[in-house]
Amino acid sequence: MNNAVILAGGQGKRMKSDIPKPMFKVLGEPMLEWVIKACEGAGLSSLCIVKGFKAEIIDEYLGGRYETVLQEERLGTGHAVMQAVPFMEKNGGGNTLVLCGDAPFIDSETIKRSLEMHEQEGNSITVITADVDDPTGYGRIIRGEKGISSIVEEKDATEAQKEICEINSGAYWFKTADLIETLGELTRNNSQGEYYLTDSVFIALGKGRSVGAYKTENSIAVLGANDRMGLLELNTIARMAVIEKHLENGVEFVCLDGIIIGRDVEIGAGTQILPGTDLRGKTVIGKDCRIGPNCIIDDCTVEDNVSLNYVQAFKSKVDAGVKIGPFVHIRPGSHIKSGVKIGDFVEIKNSTIGEGTAVAHLTYVGDSDVGKKVNFGCGTVTVNYDGIVKSRCEIGDHCFIGCNTNLIAPVKLGKWAYTAAGTTITKDVPDYALAIDRGTVQIKEGYSLRKLKTKLEKA
Ligand code: UD1
Ligand code: CA
Repeated sequence: MNNAVILAGGQGKRMKSDIPKPMFKVLGEPMLEWVIKACEGAGLSSLCIVKGFKAEIIDEYLGGRYETVLQEERLGTGHAVMQAVPFMEKNGGGNTLVLCGDAPFIDSETIKRSLEMHEQEGNSITVITADVDDPTGYGRIIRGEKGISSIVEEKDATEAQKEICEINSGAYWFKTADLIETLGELTRNNSQGEYYLTDSVFIALGKGRSVGAYKTENSIAVLGANDRMGLLELNTIARMAVIEKHLENGVEFVCLDGIIIGRDVEIGAGTQILPGTDLRGKTVIGKDCRIGPNCIIDDCTVEDNVSLNYVQAFKSKVDAGVKIGPFVHIRPGSHIKSGVKIGDFVEIKNSTIGEGTAVAHLTYVGDSDVGKKVNFGCGTVTVNYDGIVKSRCEIGDHCFIGCNTNLIAPVKLGKWAYTAAGTTITKDVPDYALAIDRGTVQIKEGYSLRKLKTKLEKA
C-alpha cells in the first residue's frame, strides 16, 4: 500500500528554540500539520512520522493520530528514513513518499501528479523538483540523458553545479522495496558525514533502475524555514494567499494591518474585515458582517449581518443580526441567538442567549439558559460557582433584571419576572413576579454638616 514517511527529527538550531522545527507554526498550524494535511488530501492515510529532537513535543501534539518512530541520533535524512523501515515493511509493496516536515507548502496536487508520473514511467525514484530564483542551500538536480543522474548538496557542489536552479524539494516517491534495499547501501562519505537520502539516486541508477524528476509548478512547495526570518516569510506568504482568496470571494479589507486568517476559515461575500482581526480554526463567517477592529474569533460559526467589535469569541455560535462589542468575551459553548445585543465589558460563558435579548454592559452570564427579549441591567452577575460545583441559571422570556442583580445558581426566573436593582436572588422567582431584597433606606438629615463642624472646631 502506498504510504508516506515525514521527516521531523531535526532541531533547527538557528531557530534558537527548544521546539523541533516542524512544530513551528505557519498561520497557526505546525508545519508538520501542513505536510500531514497535504498527504491526507492526496489520499494517503498510512503515515509515519520520524521524530528525534524533543520527540515528546511531537508525540504530545499528534496524540497518537499517526505512527511515529524515534531517530535517536541525527545522522542525516537517509538515516531518518532507515528508522521507518519496519513501518514500510509492514505496508508491503507499493510506493513510499518521503517528505520534509519543515516544508509546509507541499500540496496534494503535486503529490498526486508526481505519483502518476512515478507509476507511468515505472520509476524506482521520482524526485519532486522546482526551479527557484535562489537555489542557495538546496540540493541541486543534475539532469542526465534520461531523468536525473544525481542530486548534489550545496556543501558538496562545484561552482558550476551551484549555478543550477532546479533544486530538490526534499520530497520523493520511491518504490518501497527498492528504497529499503538502497537504504542499506548508503554511506557517510560526504562533507557532512551524514547518510544522505539523496545518494539513493545514484545507487538506484547504478542498479539500472530509472529515476525521474517531477518539476512542480508550485515553486513555494519547496520553501522551508531555516531561521525566524524564514518562518516569518512563510507566514507572510500563507497569510497573503488566504487573504487573496477571500478578496476574490467578495470579502472587503480596507487595510490589512494585523489581519490573520487561518486557511480553513470561510467568509461570506460582502463581509468587511477590519484591522487587528485574527480568525482561527474552523470559523465560518456569514455574509454582510462587520468583523473587527481587534477581534479574535476561534472555531465559531457566525451567521449573516453580524457586527463584532473588539470581541474575543471561542467555540461558540452567533446567529444572524447580532451586535457584540466593544470589549466582550464569548467563551466556549455559547449560543447567541438572532437579534441579540451585547455591549461593553460583558462575558458570556457556556450559555444560550435567546432572540432579541439585550446585555448592554458590565455583566457576567455563565452556565445560563436565557430566554427571548430579556433585559439585563448593568452589573448583573450569574453566581454560577460555589467553589466546588458549577450550577446553571434559567432566565425566562421577557425578564427584566435590575442593575447589580446577583443570581445565585441554581436558580430560575420565570417569564416576565422582574428583579429590583441590587437584589441577590437566592430562590426561584415565579412568572410575572418582582423579586426585591433591600434594607430600608434611612435618611440622616444634616449629617455632613455636623461632620464638617467637628472638623473645623478641631482645626
Ligand atoms: C535536504 C536535502 C536537499 C534538499 C532539502 C530540501 C538531503 C541530504 N538533502 O537538505 O537535497 O534540497 O532537504 O529542503 O537529504 N531530518 C531528520 N533527521 C536527520 C536529518 C534531517 O529527521 O537526521 C529531517 C529534518 O527535520 C527536516 C528534513 O529531514 O524535516 C530535511 O532535513 P534538513 O537537515 O533540513 O535537510 P537539508 O540539509 O536542508
Ligand atoms: Ca532544510
